[in-house]
Amino acid sequence: TTNRTFTMIKPDAVENGHIGGILDKITSAGFKIVAMKYTQLSKRDAQEFYAVHSERPFYGELVDFMTRGPIVSAILEKDNAVEDFRALIGATNPTEAAEGTIRKLYATSIGENAVHGSDSDENAAIEGAFHFAGREIY
Ligand code: CMP
Repeated sequence: TTNRTFTMIKPDAVENGHIGGILDKITSAGFKIVAMKYTQLSKRDAQEFYAVHSERPFYGELVDFMTRGPIVSAILEKDNAVEDFRALIGATNPTEAAEGTIRKLYATSIGENAVHGSDSDENAAIEGAFHFAGREIY
């Protein structure tokens, strides 16, 4: 297992003023930010990033949501990063997310769920490289 994961603070959380609260949860949990940007995904970016979900009924809604406003994307470093970050963010559906998790605190619905976290080391590397050039990672 590698020590990095990739995250996005999604448009709902940015709109609702939760960038600071979420970054505080992330750094307080021991994750080090090694890359970060404030940006807005194009339709093409979002379609490609979520290509694995292209056959799902919510794909169009997901692309529209993820492109409707700016996001914060970041690469995070910590021992056991992927697994520990998924524990910190909580279940995809905020009604099922544990107390104290980022999604329990900040998500509004299963679709608008405040944050992304990579689901494997392999995807963490792919997703990080999709968003950041090597020279943007410190
Ligand atoms: P995430 O797990 O980060 O990546 C896939 C995203 O698809 C997920 O977050 C949600 O934002 C979205 N998603 C998953 N299930 C649904 C659903 N049933 N309806 C709408 N969006 C969904």
